[in-house]
Amino acid sequence: MYAQMVDTGVKAVQAAADMTADEKAFQARIDADIRVEPKEWMPEAYRRTLIRQISQHAHSEIVGMLPEGNWITRAPTLKRKAILMAKVQDEGGHGLYLYAAAETLGVSRDRMVDDLHAGRAKYSSIFNYPTLTWADIGTIGWLVDGAAIMNQIPLCRCSFGPYARAMVRICKEESFHQRQGYDIMLALARGTPEQKAMAQDALDRWWWPSLMMFGPPDAQSVHSAQSAAWKIKILSNDELRQRFVDQTVPQADYLGLTVPDPELNWDAERGHYDFGPIDWAEFHNVIKGNGPCNRERLRTRVKAWEDGAWVREAAMAHAEKRAVRAAARVAPPAGADGGERTARVDAMA
Ligand code: 3HC
Repeated sequence: MYAQMVDTGVKAVQAAADMTADEKAFQARIDADIRVEPKEWMPEAYRRTLIRQISQHAHSEIVGMLPEGNWITRAPTLKRKAILMAKVQDEGGHGLYLYAAAETLGVSRDRMVDDLHAGRAKYSSIFNYPTLTWADIGTIGWLVDGAAIMNQIPLCRCSFGPYARAMVRICKEESFHQRQGYDIMLALARGTPEQKAMAQDALDRWWWPSLMMFGPPDAQSVHSAQSAAWKIKILSNDELRQRFVDQTVPQADYLGLTVPDPELNWDAERGHYDFGPIDWAEFHNVIKGNGPCNRERLRTRVKAWEDGAWVREAAMAHAEKRAVRAAARVAPPAGADGGERTARVDAMA
């Protein structure tokens, strides 16, 4: 796979002859599957690639809360509502683990958030499509979380320690998300003809954007070759997309739904499904900011950030008070009853 990516990748891998001694030693550690930790030396380009990918990933989790959050007040039962609230909260948590992992590389969270809000940073194309019916919530869990798991399980083995460790926990939670989505689809597919039609309509709208989530074809993937050499990427965009199709088509069959691709065909010789061409013009349009919901998503994120300013200010004020108290405990004023006074301050904190 690695050799294949070097041949087709848009950006070539740095040749060993062009590496400094430090870079060679770093690559040797990567090749030996030794994890990289934040305080260790790393090439600047490795650090920048990780900041780019991890922050885009974090933004995707946070923006991804919006299309599903829209349905919390409209979930059809109390149980579905409780599950959906838990899922949306999980996505917020994933964003926080990922921002924290990126911060270990020396970028501040404020800077990352600023880049997102100013439209300088990307987030997953998939979250720029609208959620029109309850079946969209089922489809997001089934397909979008399913695609996310397919992409993220290999990342649990990636070379950068904090990212790999965050992925382990995130993948466990995404797996629950995928099951809850499939469970919604199962209920709709076994429901009234109208409910089944709603499930089919959602699959029709989300299928192709889900395949786009894996990124451009390998031959056009700018970063793949170098990211594979650094073991940031374990499987290529096309390999993951193929695995996703192979896994998901039988699940659609079980639901009695039709994947909206007339060219879908099981190729017994390859042992994979063949599928039709993806509309890459649509993908590029969406990641340029012109998808159906890009502007609305960013507007909503910026508003949520501004509305939450008072919470951040209150938390900072509380942290400052605690720091002052802690400093007073370390150095009690001369002649003061340090021990007794400190105990009282602690009790009040
Ligand atoms: N949406 C938006 N941008 C995308 C994209 C997508 N689906 N796929 C690729 N791109 C962008 C890349 O970010 C890159 O842009 P940049 O140079 O400006 O940074 C450009 O297209 C070229 O693509 P490459 O294939 O060269 O880029 P990568 O090597 O970074 O591969 C990736 C793209 C496979 C998405 C990789 O970054 C990755 O594995 N990221 C981690 C996983 C992730 O971010 N998933 C997002 C979904 S998370 C989620 O769905 C949340 C869950 O709760 C459901």
